Amino acid sequence: MDDLITALETQVVLPLENDTLATEYGLRPKRGVLLLGPPGTGKTTIGRALAHRLKSRFFRIDGTFIPGTPSFYWKIENVFEQARHNAPAVVFIDDCDAMFQAGQELGLYRYLLTMLDGLESEGCRDVCVIFTAMELADLPPALLRSGRIELWLETRVPDAAARGRILQRLLSGVPADLENIDVNALIAATDGFTGADLDPVVSDGKKYFVADKLRGNPLRSVTEYFLEAAHEVRQNKSRYAAAKAAANDRSH
Ligand SMILES: Nc1ncnc2c1ncn2[C@@H]1O[C@H](COP(=O)(O)OP(=O)(O)OP(=O)(O)O)[C@@H](O)[C@H]1O
Ligand SMILES: [Mg+2]
Repeated sequence: MDDLITALETQVVLPLENDTLATEYGLRPKRGVLLLGPPGTGKTTIGRALAHRLKSRFFRIDGTFIPGTPSFYWKIENVFEQARHNAPAVVFIDDCDAMFQAGQELGLYRYLLTMLDGLESEGCRDVCVIFTAMELADLPPALLRSGRIELWLETRVPDAAARGRILQRLLSGVPADLENIDVNALIAATDGFTGADLDPVVSDGKKYFVADKLRGNPLRSVTEYFLEAAHEVRQNKSRYAAAKAAANDRSH
């Protein structure tokens, strides 16, 4: 994530947070940013961090905006209105692929593109729109072709070193009896896991350990509880992959 965060800080946050420098040097945030990546790799988390950082200059459009309901267009319009009013600002459209997939909203792409054009024609280019998506294939080609996406960023499944850092973070502050966990064994057992997959490895591992303690069972080595949790998560992942493959077969 480090390079992705640096890019967002330079291209989006910097011009928003430094009014004087932005005016002096004529700095503008990127107009359109695409955050693309597999499920559970931190896209929504980046949105939360930006919201925290940018406060009243951050606006979110997410799954609570339900295509097909009467308030849908009104709510979206309201978000853009507020963003323009508070510019420079960010509009974060989370899971935009899911929103575009909602078949009944055929006019949505064109509506959004028109909205984005409006931002420009009104001289409001200081509103940056960040789109997150899992699948490039589900994005409207018009959005990609229009040249709106000026910054293209991908979240990736973490490698061993990154998994180590995420696990260390999740394990920080555990009680003393859990301190001797063999993190390297956990790193090896979690190849292919996303940040979202690592979360239950630690939280479930702790539950398995405490359950044995409460029941007065003989305790295993602490690492084993977390390896068991990793095994469970891996089984869930393969169930998910099988369900997804079956859904794909049905749709073809
Ligand atoms: N790179 C990461 N570092 C630390 N934690 C992470 C990372 N990626 C994901 N997580 C953790 O995984 C959880 C889910 O991540 P998040 O919801 O941001 O993923 P997402 O990319 O938005 O997934 P989806 O495509 O399913 O919406 C979060 O609670 C977050 O703490
Ligand atoms: Mg998300």
